[in-house]
Amino acid sequence: MTPQQASAKAAEICRLAPVVPVLVIDDLAFARPLAEALVAGGLPALEVTLRTPVALDVIRAMAEVPGGVVGAGTLLTPADVKAAKAAGAMFGVSPGATDRLLDACEEHDLPLLAGAATSSEVMALLERGYTVQKFFPAEANGGAPALKAIGAPLPQVSFCPTGGISLANARDYLSLSNVLCVGGSWVAPKGLMEKGDWAGITALAAEAAALPR
Ligand code: 3PG
Repeated sequence: MTPQQASAKAAEICRLAPVVPVLVIDDLAFARPLAEALVAGGLPALEVTLRTPVALDVIRAMAEVPGGVVGAGTLLTPADVKAAKAAGAMFGVSPGATDRLLDACEEHDLPLLAGAATSSEVMALLERGYTVQKFFPAEANGGAPALKAIGAPLPQVSFCPTGGISLANARDYLSLSNVLCVGGSWVAPKGLMEKGDWAGITALAAEAAALPR
C-alpha cells in the first residue's frame, strides 16, 4: 500500500464519525460489549491501544462486531504492525513515525495514522506521501490554535488530533478546516466499563457522534 493509498483509506475512516474512541482495555470480557456500545452510539471507528496484554485479543473480538472498524493504536515496531494486522486491525495509529514503522505498514497494507507534533514532522510525513496524520499530543502541543497555525502553510495535510481532547474542547478542533475527526479516551471511561454500564457508554458515544464538523 502506498502512502497515498494509506492516506485515502485513513481519511475514509476518519470521516466515519467526529470522534475515534481511544481504548485502553485490561479485560478481554469488555471487548465485545464495549465495541457494541460504541457502535450503537454512532462511533464505528475504534482504536485499541497495544498497551495491555490482552490488546490483540481485544482487536480479534472487536473485529467481529457488526458495523465496527477496528484499528490498533500505539504501534511502535514492525512486529506490532504484523501482530495488529494478523489480529484483524483495519488501520493503525502511532504516536510518532519512524521509517521502519512506515515501511512495515506499507508492506503489510495497514493504513497508518502516523503522529506528528511539529511542522518539520508534518513535512517529513508529507514528503513521503502522507496527507492524513495524527496531531499528538494535541493539547500539550498548543491545542487547536497550534493546529490551525500549522494548517496555514500546510493546508494539504489533514489531521486527527488526539491527547487531552474531551467533549469540552473537541469542537475547537472539529471546526478547523484541517481536522477530519478527533481521537479521545473520554467516551470509554474505565469506571463505566468496570460497572458494565454499556448504556452509559452508548450515551457518551451518542453525545460525541453528534458533535458538529
Ligand atoms: C492516547 O494516546 O492515549 C490518546 O492520545 C488519547 O489521549 P486521551 O486519553 O487524552 O484522550
